[in-house]
Amino acid sequence: MHVRALGHEPLEKTAVNELIKGIDNLYGSSPLIGGNSTDAAIVVGTAEQVRTAYPALNLPSTLLPEAFWITELDSGGKRMVLIVGGSERGVLYGAFALVRKLVTSGWTQKTTITEGPDLPIRWVDEWDNPDGTIERGYAGRSIFFEGGNVREDLTAVSEYARLLASVGINGCNVNNVNAAPQLIDSEHLKQIARIADAMRPWGVRVAMSVALASPQKIGGLATYDPADPAVKAWWAAKVNEIYALIPDFAGFTVKADSEGQPGPASYGRSPADAANTLAAALAPHGGVVLYRAFVYNHHLDWLDPKADRARAAYDIFHPLDGAFAPNVVVQTKEGPIDFQAQEPISPLFAGLRQTNQAMEIQVTQEYTGQQRHMVYLAPMWKWVLDFDLRADGRSTPVKEILAGKSFHRPLGGMVAVTGVGRDGWLGSPLAMANLYAFGRLAWNPNLTSEEIAAEWVRQSISNDDAVVRTVTKMLLQSWPAYVNYTGPLGMQTLTGITGSHYGPNIESSENNGWGQWHRAEPLGVGMDRSVKTGTGFAGQYPPEVAKLYENLATTPDNLLLFFHHVPYTHRLHDGQTVIQYIYDSHYEGAAQAAGLADEWATLEGSIDQPLYEQVRDRLAYQAGHAIVWRDAIVQYFLKLSGIPDEKGRAGHYPGRMEAEDARLTGYKIIDVTPWEDASGGKAVSCAEKSCTAEWTYTGVAGHYSIAVQYFDLQGGTAKFTLLLNGQPVVSWAADAVLPSHRPNGDNSTRHTVRGIELKPGDLLRVEGTPDGDDPAALDYIEIAPTASSMQGWSKPTQP
Ligand code: GCU
Repeated sequence: MHVRALGHEPLEKTAVNELIKGIDNLYGSSPLIGGNSTDAAIVVGTAEQVRTAYPALNLPSTLLPEAFWITELDSGGKRMVLIVGGSERGVLYGAFALVRKLVTSGWTQKTTITEGPDLPIRWVDEWDNPDGTIERGYAGRSIFFEGGNVREDLTAVSEYARLLASVGINGCNVNNVNAAPQLIDSEHLKQIARIADAMRPWGVRVAMSVALASPQKIGGLATYDPADPAVKAWWAAKVNEIYALIPDFAGFTVKADSEGQPGPASYGRSPADAANTLAAALAPHGGVVLYRAFVYNHHLDWLDPKADRARAAYDIFHPLDGAFAPNVVVQTKEGPIDFQAQEPISPLFAGLRQTNQAMEIQVTQEYTGQQRHMVYLAPMWKWVLDFDLRADGRSTPVKEILAGKSFHRPLGGMVAVTGVGRDGWLGSPLAMANLYAFGRLAWNPNLTSEEIAAEWVRQSISNDDAVVRTVTKMLLQSWPAYVNYTGPLGMQTLTGITGSHYGPNIESSENNGWGQWHRAEPLGVGMDRSVKTGTGFAGQYPPEVAKLYENLATTPDNLLLFFHHVPYTHRLHDGQTVIQYIYDSHYEGAAQAAGLADEWATLEGSIDQPLYEQVRDRLAYQAGHAIVWRDAIVQYFLKLSGIPDEKGRAGHYPGRMEAEDARLTGYKIIDVTPWEDASGGKAVSCAEKSCTAEWTYTGVAGHYSIAVQYFDLQGGTAKFTLLLNGQPVVSWAADAVLPSHRPNGDNSTRHTVRGIELKPGDLLRVEGTPDGDDPAALDYIEIAPTASSMQGWSKPTQP
């Protein structure tokens, strides 16, 4: 069996290598394709090469450069699979598609596949800084940079390019949008060229974020005014320098006039003026400018009922429609705020008809659990892609706008902020499903989330049908669960928006200029964005959609509080009140998170054991943190609204014994900030060598699980021991890496031990030993009935 390329281009060579690797992995030395013929061959080539080699063959009439056609031929009595690419890039994508097909469903005789990408721009954005840190990255340090320079060893960069190409991603923007200007100085550009060299064999083109102030910052000019001829000349020379080093350079990404970044507004110029200056420099080389629409004032007046950050992108960019150069693409986040767990679609997608557009999404889970929570985001992206904005009263789904179909645009795409690092790419094995899904959707937005999930599981975890079913189901359940426990009804993610963007911190969204307001107050909640009485944001959509969101009665429940301020007693479409929904969805969300861990447990023995254990521990953590979220939001809204939970759960925690009510030795009671992040608002903290908290068990005799809820702070590894009647039951180290140096919902976590026999009068004690800046702070212990066996993932261990 052999694989042969008709041409000698580098990407064809890569295609051949990938086929050999893929097939080796799958079959070892067994016969490959087409029954039992041992010398069956795979031949790859561009359409041009194939026409010369097989003149009699009827190729598809047009094969665009990135497209491919795979077919099976009878060649002199031998079966042969032929991969034909519109260009050598198409050949490479065809090779990966064939391997994917072999793994996921196998090759059946006479299969023919014709595919090409819907979206021309399919980029990942890395927010890496020259010092090796990654903005909003959750998987260790940069694979690109360290100590101010590009890393010597770029093996991981090549591997990453391979990973990206396998799902058709064709560009990688290597540095933070909050761009360090020095990265485009002559010294650094030579280094960036090494990154481009490392990615080129997989057809991934390098792009860079640039600071608009560069002509002044590193160019020594007195200005960076995009209309100034000297500035224009500086950019033209800079771009020439880049292309001399990196001939296939993809282009620039620009964040300007946003969150403190300098921009054209400093000179009274518009985003189009700035974008077009860069575009003019790039155009002769075929480069593009991805100009981000994430431009807003973060010093808004929160007392002004008409102020609204959600309006900003449309207000600023819609009037500029038609003013952008042909090689400019306006890159808009999928929602009008900022990667929240749930937001409406940005109305700007329908507001730009004569401008190329790309949608920016996040694979890195900034507001969606930072990879510590398993949240498969494809269903959210699908919802956006499929959403029909009804521009001009006709069908204009976002995916067709991005593909350039709706408004006849030549360019468009999808860009994912990815944040891969040296810690296993995304830090969490199941998070890789999101990177995979991004690539697949950018290639074909009509695939379903379920198809993509199943494909990914087959290639990454196991091809066993039962495993595929279970993991696919878990993936699909995860986003709705996360929305349930972090902020439903369109309230956005109720997290610490001025800090970590991770744990619950409800008021952090309010009373500041950042504009992520939800306007929760004693009588009601939600932000009025109607035209009639609110900020007018709803009116930025085309009329049919605007009408839907303008009216309370027609606004879908899942976005109700994004568009309207309502009393807690307002009834949703099924008759339930808003406040009761808040309680119910949080209890449901936490139960769903626990369910994910239970489902995963059924896979033990069917999949790779280290993977099984790693994900098991992560899901156990997630289930615990979902309880932190649930309790924070429920107790907050219970206090604010004063309306009890009709199911009696809010504020009542059977089996919970608070640390502040324990007999304390050494431990001191503290107020936790924000108060909702600790049970009852209080915890205990230890400033001694070690401290204890002790409770007397007064419940019914039986077997129980005991959860110890504590705060795992940065800056030290505190130790804990749980003792029963003076005998140690379990000890553990608070060694997780969680945000924040103060006890709060970012780092509130739990250790659960199962199958403990308790009888009335038993003494339960937790001993905490601080370390460094970690004061072994403790919130509560919670006792819950379990099966009488010792089964469970966290088995008691002797200290
Ligand atoms: C978010 C994120 C920032 C990032 C910004 C952006 O606000 O928290 O870290 O710089 O988005 O997209 O520019």
